[in-house]
Amino acid sequence: VFLLGVLILLYREDWRVGALLTIFALAALLYLMRGGGFVGVRSRAARAAAADLSGYLEEQLGGLPDLKTSGADAYAMRRLHERLAARFHRVNASAMASSVFNAIVGLLFVLGAGAALGLSTVLYGAGAITLGTIYLVFRYTGMLRQPIERLSREMNSFQQATGGIVRVRELLAIESQIADGASTNIPPGALSVELDGVSFAYEAETVLHGISCRVEPGEVLGLLGRTGSGKTTISRLLFRLYDPTEGAVRLGGVDVRDTRLDALREGVGLVTQDVQLFQGTLRDNVALFNRNVADARLDAVFAELGLDGWLRALPAGLDTPLGAGGRGLSAGEAQLVALARVLLKDPGLVILDEASSRLDPHTERLLERAVTRLLEGRTGVVIAHRLATVERADRILILEGGRIAEFGWRADLAGDPQSRFAQLLRAGIQEELV
Ligand SMILES: Nc1ncnc2c1ncn2[C@@H]1O[C@H](COP(=O)(O)OP(=O)(O)OP(=O)(O)O)[C@@H](O)[C@H]1O
Ligand SMILES: [Mg+2]
Repeated sequence: VFLLGVLILLYREDWRVGALLTIFALAALLYLMRGGGFVGVRSRAARAAAADLSGYLEEQLGGLPDLKTSGADAYAMRRLHERLAARFHRVNASAMASSVFNAIVGLLFVLGAGAALGLSTVLYGAGAITLGTIYLVFRYTGMLRQPIERLSREMNSFQQATGGIVRVRELLAIESQIADGASTNIPPGALSVELDGVSFAYEAETVLHGISCRVEPGEVLGLLGRTGSGKTTISRLLFRLYDPTEGAVRLGGVDVRDTRLDALREGVGLVTQDVQLFQGTLRDNVALFNRNVADARLDAVFAELGLDGWLRALPAGLDTPLGAGGRGLSAGEAQLVALARVLLKDPGLVILDEASSRLDPHTERLLERAVTRLLEGRTGVVIAHRLATVERADRILILEGGRIAEFGWRADLAGDPQSRFAQLLRAGIQEELV
């Protein structure tokens, strides 16, 4: 409005000067509307670089002990410098872009003012206007500057904010590749497990090759194999964290791709190799922040797992704070918490990826008892690193480089001196598989 008023005043002084400045004002406005795109692009890139940096920092700080012990400090520092440099360049480019943007608006204005003065001088020479009019034109041009600069500043922040919004949209648009299936229900109770010609690759390299096996409801399958043989990968396919690239995974006779994800995750309990604990109390970590779970229910869960004594020994019972990354709990104890989590949802299939680290005998006994109780009346897939865990399995599957090396009844395999399983037992499971 202010801009319009000033222009009208200029027209009243002299229409030629007015028209000239109108053209410049319009050009500046047009530029403000359209020319800001490159500010937005750079501001988006700067945000992405900042996100990359903080992601890297979090990862490295989390793995600090490993970094230190492996002497990889120098490497980590170099990568940190690379990221810092990348961020610096992007933020720099973003700042440059907005300065250039402002500068161009300023330049347009100076050109406009110059042209107006030039025109006025010519008109004065021709006797069309007075010196007073020139002075007025000069003043008015000065007044034009203010609203245009304010607009320019706001456009700049607007562009930067749009950069942020576009980035958030990009993040929100990342969709899981695991799509909900039709609503075929997996049956209640203990589930049968069937892998039917399952192959899988995380990236280019195939890590599972045509795995086929079947476990009946209520049985326990012991999954053995050296590190990197694909044991954890099988557990992820059963929980449908990934879909196989070939073949099918069936639980209770139903292809997991045909069931709803939430139903599947209710029916399958997964205890991972290194359990993640959340910042919160023990209660929060077992009930997963669901406030509707009564303490009595949790007490019952711990009692059923034979962990009531362990719970009582904690300084504040269910209110004991647990840190992110499980500070304060050993790997074994973190698995106890995860077992309680699983029992709470009462699934028909329990997958246990045993921690490969050695546990103190006390925790080990607690874990053993809890696992026995958890597997009662359920189907189990246990990735075993300990002899005691292996011994509770009905069937044994030995993986080698993503292929089945051996599959059969544990008792049969143990009784056949030629079997890999028997060889493993002789060599000592603990030594061979950790
Ligand atoms: N998230 C992932 N992305 C890419 N490759 C992966 C991923 N997880 C595992 N792999 C690769 O897949 C192969 C099988 O790994 P997996 O974790 O299933 O082995 P594992 O038998 O559980 O080993 P461990 O006994 O050490 O736990 C390995 O070569 C591993 O490097
Ligand atoms: Mg593993």
